[in-house]
Amino acid sequence: MGPSPPSRLLLGLTLFFTLTHATVTVYTPTQVVFTTAPAVSGTPAAYTGVAAYNPGTLSPPPLPSPTVLTNPIPINLQNSGTPGLGVKQKGSFLGFSIEMSVTNQVLGKNSTLLQVPFLNLMANIVQRAGSVMVRVGGNSQESAHLVAMGEILNGRVLSKNLTGVTGTTQTPPLDFTPDLLYMMRNISELVNVHWFLGIPWFTTTPFDLAIVPAATSILGPYLLGLQAGNEPDMYNLHGHRPATYGPYDYGG
Ligand SMILES: *[C@@H]1O[C@H](CO)[C@@H](O)[C@H](O)[C@H]1NC(C)=O
Ligand SMILES: *[C@@H]1O[C@H](CO)[C@@H](O)[C@H](O)[C@H]1NC(C)=O
Ligand SMILES: *[C@@H]1O[C@H](CO)[C@@H](O)[C@H](O)[C@H]1NC(C)=O
Repeated sequence: MGPSPPSRLLLGLTLFFTLTHATVTVYTPTQVVFTTAPAVSGTPAAYTGVAAYNPGTLSPPPLPSPTVLTNPIPINLQNSGTPGLGVKQKGSFLGFSIEMSVTNQVLGKNSTLLQVPFLNLMANIVQRAGSVMVRVGGNSQESAHLVAMGEILNGRVLSKNLTGVTGTTQTPPLDFTPDLLYMMRNISELVNVHWFLGIPWFTTTPFDLAIVPAATSILGPYLLGLQAGNEPDMYNLHGHRPATYGPYDYGG
């Protein structure tokens, strides 16, 4: 019996969010934590090292004058129901996307070596929003092929075929092992990240749906949904479908 088709197909989901305040532990290339920040310098531009490791502390600018804080901001909330409100959303409604081919740089090397800065960033969001939604996918999901655990050498979770790049974004065909999914699961166990996962869709003969049962069993409750195809509205542009390809052909 072949793998069952995905129960939910999610069309192009692109979500953004803005962090207004965050404290992230930055690790130097030798993994030493910055324990003390240097005194206020106010001249971070003088630092010439890698920007991510700039130890400078910005001096806050003076408050605007007259200050906006003394002016009342009217919000007419009514216990009986405030007219004109939108649909109620969770604090974790907004998420973001990570291209599948760079997960080995952003999430970690594999399920045992997670990227600490990524965990810190997720922990900061979780502290405020309760959980985080991340989509792993993009153009590289379309040629991603699940291979057996250990088939990619040196404990790596994915490998790119740089001689087989295609399309406008020069997307390399991708092999990945189930350890990519274990890496995602391990992240979720630590910092409550929930995932959308992109599955390949433009090659139909046959559909390569091996990722569906693997992700369902490994990510379990942390898998929110599967996104069949990346930008299927662009399939024709990239030569993957005829010009007549439309929503009905995609959804059936
Ligand atoms: C992850 O990579 C490290 C370092 O290369 C290796 O020691 C470890 O066995 C790998 N883990 C897995 C699950 O492959
Ligand atoms: C890489 O892609 C090229 C071109 O599509 C193909 O001929 C080759 O077999 C691929 N190599 C691997 C290791 O999959
Ligand atoms: C991460 O995943 C591996 C399976 O590859 C598991 O053995 C290990 O216990 C997990 N680590 C954590 C911290 O959950």
